Amino acid sequence: MLLPILALVAPAAAAITLGVQSGFFWVTAATSAGLFLWSINGKGYRKNIGATGLLTGELEIDKKSVEKHFDHYASHFGDDSRDKESKQHKSLQGKREHNYTEMINNFYDLVTDFYEYGWGPCFHFAPRFLGEGFMESLRRHEYFMASRLELRPGMKCIDLGCGVGGPLRNIARFCGCKVVGVNNSDYQIKIAQKHNKNEGLEHLVDVVKADFMALKPFKDETFDAGYQIEATCHAPDLTACFKQAYRVLKPGGMLAGYEWLMTSQYDPKNPRHVAIKQGIEQGNSIPTLRTIAECEAALKKAGFEIVEVQDRCPYPLTALDKPWYGPLAGEYSIENIRSTKLGRFATSFLTYVLETIRIAPKGTYKVQTMLTKTADDLVAGGEIGIFTPAYFWLARKPRKAEKKQS
Ligand SMILES: C[S@@+](CC[C@H](N)C(=O)[O-])C[C@H]1O[C@@H](n2cnc3c(N)ncnc32)[C@H](O)[C@@H]1O
Repeated sequence: MLLPILALVAPAAAAITLGVQSGFFWVTAATSAGLFLWSINGKGYRKNIGATGLLTGELEIDKKSVEKHFDHYASHFGDDSRDKESKQHKSLQGKREHNYTEMINNFYDLVTDFYEYGWGPCFHFAPRFLGEGFMESLRRHEYFMASRLELRPGMKCIDLGCGVGGPLRNIARFCGCKVVGVNNSDYQIKIAQKHNKNEGLEHLVDVVKADFMALKPFKDETFDAGYQIEATCHAPDLTACFKQAYRVLKPGGMLAGYEWLMTSQYDPKNPRHVAIKQGIEQGNSIPTLRTIAECEAALKKAGFEIVEVQDRCPYPLTALDKPWYGPLAGEYSIENIRSTKLGRFATSFLTYVLETIRIAPKGTYKVQTMLTKTADDLVAGGEIGIFTPAYFWLARKPRKAEKKQS
């Protein structure tokens, strides 16, 4: 505990005694930031993450082109978006929908290491009770969904947009069912497969390269159940995406989701609301965020019968809850210190120093800055209740006889 505090105090002391112009200040600052990050580092495979994919070549992006990749990604949102409502951002929605594969893979190439470093292998938010640990809350959120899907040994489940596979490993272990994750990002698949092997779970889980807008590797009626966690917000067309899930589910099979949506508090005529929505889209590679009504209509249009809906991160909170955005909003916890304001500041600083002294590729700092800004957008959306990251829906594909009757 003493080491991270010392590492943060040292550069301030150096700045006061030596001034920021001094070369010695920069050496102290870089060493301290490195020490800080090292002292709070995780364990196991990928324990040295941060921007390591970019640094070590694990990620197949040419180091010289990180900035080019970032600028190309940013071109899908426009220059003037984020601080105020942006007309340019709106007009680029078509481009985002058309180029979704490139835009989203580009994004995850750049941010995956930062995500895993700051949050761990489960790339989602969660509701949290007072007194509940951060990791514990993430798992409870996953098990809640698994329990609603009634997953058990012998069942085969699909995870649409599985990230690096944190949730699918937890769910497979918890329920004893098989889970096949699909992902369109080669980089994340590579990481997920290494984690699966390291955790001895290859008999229960698999990760397959597929676009959830097409699900080409899978025949009709392959899976007993399916789910998506904070992934289908990336879909350029939600109905088309749900139709694919419908196709690969067996009749009677259940599909569940935690959807990123604008709530009934959202007012599209309020420029501040629109700016927050646009900021979340820009910082998370989302063509456009939808409303609750749009999501439910898409499920029905795809052929599903809706069994249950509820916002798992509702607004306002009760006195017994902690906000889902707490870890981004200044709440301090040693479990997720890297995603706190303090941790993000240290990471930004280290990224800046490493880029300045040419260890980190040019563009790394821009990626970190984008993530810091969007953390503020997510907090703003959560604080005024216009956005939820966990609108839970449970839907059923009707059995054949039921379909004929209706
Ligand atoms: C926010 S992450 C959530 C990952 C995972 N569900 C979790 O909770 O850890 C969104 C995921 O969706 C995947 N994704 C986005 N668009 C996709 C598509 N068209 N087909 C398959 N996966 C996609 C991304 O690559 C990423 O892994």
